[in-house]
Amino acid sequence: MIAFAGEGMWIPMLLQYNEKEMQEMGMRISAEDIYSINHSSLKDAIVLFGGGCTGEIVSDYGLLLTNHHCGYDYIQQHSSVEHDYLTDGFWAMDRSQELPCPGLSVIFLREMRDVTEQVLKHVTDDMTEEKRQATINESMKQLIAEVEKTTKYKVSIKPFFLGNEYYLLLNEIFTDVRLVGCPPSNIGKFGGDTDNWVWPRHTGDFSVFRVYADKDGHPSDYSASNVPYKPAKHLDISLKGADEGDFAFVFGYPARTNEYLPAIAVDQEANVIDPIAVDLRGKILDIYNTYQEQDKKVRIQYASKHAGLGNGWKKWMGVTEGINHFHGVQKKRFYEESFQEWALGARNRYMYIDLLKNFEQKYKELEPYRVAYTYLTNAGLNIELISFAGNFSRLLQVTKETPQADIDKMVASLKNATKEFFKDYYQPIDEEVAKTMLTEYLNHQPVDFRPGFLNEIKNVDAYVNELFSKSMFTSETKVNAFLDAFKANKVKKLAKDPALKAYQSMMSFYREEVNPKMGPINKEIERLQRIYMKGQMAMEPEKRFSPDANFTLRVTYGKVEGFRPQDGKNFRHFTTLEGIMEKENPDIYDYVVEPKLKQLYLKKDYGRYADKDGSMHVAFTASVHTTGGNSGSPILNADGQLLGLNFDRCWEGTMSDLIYDPDICRNISVDIRYVLFIIDKFAGAKHLVDEMTIVE
Ligand code: ARG
Ligand code: GLU
Repeated sequence: MIAFAGEGMWIPMLLQYNEKEMQEMGMRISAEDIYSINHSSLKDAIVLFGGGCTGEIVSDYGLLLTNHHCGYDYIQQHSSVEHDYLTDGFWAMDRSQELPCPGLSVIFLREMRDVTEQVLKHVTDDMTEEKRQATINESMKQLIAEVEKTTKYKVSIKPFFLGNEYYLLLNEIFTDVRLVGCPPSNIGKFGGDTDNWVWPRHTGDFSVFRVYADKDGHPSDYSASNVPYKPAKHLDISLKGADEGDFAFVFGYPARTNEYLPAIAVDQEANVIDPIAVDLRGKILDIYNTYQEQDKKVRIQYASKHAGLGNGWKKWMGVTEGINHFHGVQKKRFYEESFQEWALGARNRYMYIDLLKNFEQKYKELEPYRVAYTYLTNAGLNIELISFAGNFSRLLQVTKETPQADIDKMVASLKNATKEFFKDYYQPIDEEVAKTMLTEYLNHQPVDFRPGFLNEIKNVDAYVNELFSKSMFTSETKVNAFLDAFKANKVKKLAKDPALKAYQSMMSFYREEVNPKMGPINKEIERLQRIYMKGQMAMEPEKRFSPDANFTLRVTYGKVEGFRPQDGKNFRHFTTLEGIMEKENPDIYDYVVEPKLKQLYLKKDYGRYADKDGSMHVAFTASVHTTGGNSGSPILNADGQLLGLNFDRCWEGTMSDLIYDPDICRNISVDIRYVLFIIDKFAGAKHLVDEMTIVE
């Protein structure tokens, strides 16, 4: 048995280099079965869903699975007081009931080509960065134009390995995607933000869509005459489940990782930046919680805001914990010592000798600006009144010469934003957030590193009281009246609004103080990083490197397994419906159990979806390297059959975006048998299961 590092998000077209290892770990299919351009392969069933998640096709009629949290916006779009699909779930009982989702698209990768040589053809070592980038852009432009002449697909080129390699992608984009079904949030979001990032987990995080095409199978915008898309391949579904130690792989669209940073960068992220963001967001979340507990309406109004702030808050806390607990910075330092030694070992490695020293210096220069940026986004812009007022900045450009049609357009869109804003706005929360955040800002950021308006504040409470009593943006009526009567001669009055002034002050601080300093440092870091990556690959020519995630299709693999997050603490790799009943609490929003689900549980009515142990498995963990964007990705078994849908990671291992540790980094998936059980037994939508290919 070879030691398996677990790490790596592999490029599907190069999977032949991993095939041997994957097969030694138990895989029974070939690299060609996963990615091929000569015949249909698993890749033909995988899509980038809605620009931020992954989805997979599971029938010959374009049926698609993704996460509930990925379909959330579209489910919400179709929800109203009369049809509250978020709360009650939704099931199309035939195709005529499927709901079009304007704005939603799915993208299939048709082909990928290595174009490194063509893109870097005219690049030389002595070029300035500007010249280098311009040369690359020109080559890419030409190449794309050439390929475009030969294909109906969308052509793009993306850098890999921090600009050392380039790949061309041929994509096909479908824009008629319809909502087919979703469970109630009590199932699809069971455990809510409380359980988010945490194992053991019991979330039925799935939703069902269908891709439509024109009658020839080509992409087409929504039309009643469109038909279900027939894919070159759909995924087969296994009802066998997975045992501890079984090989598993995830096929999807990871968004961003940074595995090749120097120690100083990891240290800065984990020990300077993340803790500031965590602290600020934690204070805001405390305020939200207090008010949310007191009032049901406020709880709903702030649910999504809470989820948004809370997701990053919890993750970054995990990153800091993980990096420090597992001595991530120290390990990087050891690695750097050997890199330095290697760099000094031969004369032709001169370009690597000063790299690490330069990194130290550049990151030190960067730090105060990164901190300033973190305060600006987390403390400043989380004051809702100020952010909302910021939307109105565009009106400040209006003059007597501005065409009335343009003004009407702006006003209409601002009226919309106003309606959206006040639907979920609770001023007492915002006032308290403002007082707390501005105090934090003043206490922790030196004069030169904060927006000008802050430097005029003598007393925070007094300032906030005045801000909220003088600004028109606290009143929906006033804002609407202002918009209704808006003319060029109102711009002056608008510019005096204290909330908009605060926003303008933050933006000019960013534009004039932060960005001009941070930009060039980041450019230089990017250059160093590219050379460092090249050096790391040169130092270990035998090692297989995997490029950082960049929202392109990747294969990652490992085993179904639990983990030991702490000495003496041992996590089993799966959870069951029993656990949902254990967590049940009718008084806690996140833990309300659907009566029908409880019925099925009490009758043990699991049908063929039960595990061989007789229980209903809900979720499971595996040592597969994933990140944001992998939500909704299929997790597949040794035969390439669907085992579940990836939807999260374990908190203890969220550092895996910076450093992957196979001992504690685990992804979390919902068991496909639970998904089918909910569709069939809970929702009575067996016709959907009948479309799929089930392997018993
Ligand atoms: N942590 C997961 C991710 O990063 C899930 C987020 C959605 N779920 C939630 N309970 N907020 O996207
Ligand atoms: N929930 C994440 C997503 O939406 C996946 C979890 C992760 O970051 O690994 O993409």
